[in-house]
Amino acid sequence: MTLFQTILFIVFLFSLQPSASVEICRVSCGNQLVRFPFRLSSQPDRCGYPRFNLSCKDQAQTVLSLPFSGEFNVVHIDYLFQNIWLNDPDHCTPKRLLHGLNLSSTPFDLLYPRSFTFFNCSAAASTQLHQAKYISCLSGTNFSVVALPADRLDSSASLSTSCLEIATVLVPFSWTGWSNLGNGIMLTWNEPNCLRCENGAGNCMFKSETGLDVGCSGGFTNGMFLFCS
Ligand SMILES: *[C@@H]1O[C@H](CO)[C@@H](O)[C@H](O)[C@H]1NC(C)=O
Ligand SMILES: *[C@@H]1O[C@H](CO)[C@@H](O)[C@H](O)[C@H]1NC(C)=O
Ligand SMILES: *[C@@H]1O[C@H](CO)[C@@H](O)[C@H](O)[C@H]1NC(C)=O
Ligand SMILES: *[C@@H]1O[C@H](CO)[C@@H](O)[C@H](O)[C@H]1NC(C)=O
Repeated sequence: MTLFQTILFIVFLFSLQPSASVEICRVSCGNQLVRFPFRLSSQPDRCGYPRFNLSCKDQAQTVLSLPFSGEFNVVHIDYLFQNIWLNDPDHCTPKRLLHGLNLSSTPFDLLYPRSFTFFNCSAAASTQLHQAKYISCLSGTNFSVVALPADRLDSSASLSTSCLEIATVLVPFSWTGWSNLGNGIMLTWNEPNCLRCENGAGNCMFKSETGLDVGCSGGFTNGMFLFCS
């Protein structure tokens, strides 16, 4: 090899390195792509940010385990907007919310949280509650569990006579999955902030071997696709 070829070869090697490590840290579980800031617990620690580890059940279902609220199926990870959609493995997300979704020690927050009050009504009463969301997975033959936005309770004062109040809990306002099972709840995270990088089609990753600073490799570094923020 000439000196020039050697230099080219070295440059080639170094240019491969970042993308190679990006490739190692990119895996699929079912149809969910898992990449930074998430990693599967079976991957190297530095593939993901602390507390963003997921597991992959039966090589098909991505699972997030919350320290105080148990396991949720991951429906979708939106890397561009830093949201994660979760669902109850038993398809009754309202039940999980009623038990109290405790996000302590997690990097996540509810997206657009709103207070809802849950009621247990006689079946007859529930048909009159137009604004109420009917929770089929908690209801039975002779009773209906419904939920109302806490700030709308005044207009439904009749509830108190035919319904028993169960609890008032915070739920994500984005929660459209009251009766259809698909959507579940949506959480968001602020740290690490990969928004700029993701919007520039770059690869968000740790800046160095140690520490929690994140940087961006590749993508539109001049910010062609950046948000106006
Ligand atoms: C995530 O990582 C932590 C620390 O390494 C570990 O205690 C926890 O069990 C892991 N969670 C899952 C779902 O593997
Ligand atoms: C979450 O659960 C832990 C452990 O039970 C408790 O210490 C903490 O206060 C709870 N956080 C909230 C917000 O309820
Ligand atoms: C609602 O009431 C019925 C009958 O009174 C009871 O069996 C059921 O467990 C209650 N459900 C909830 C979620 O409180
Ligand atoms: C529902 O109510 C009817 C009439 O009161 C009663 O016959 C039936 O056993 C009840 N069903 C359940 C599951 O409690």
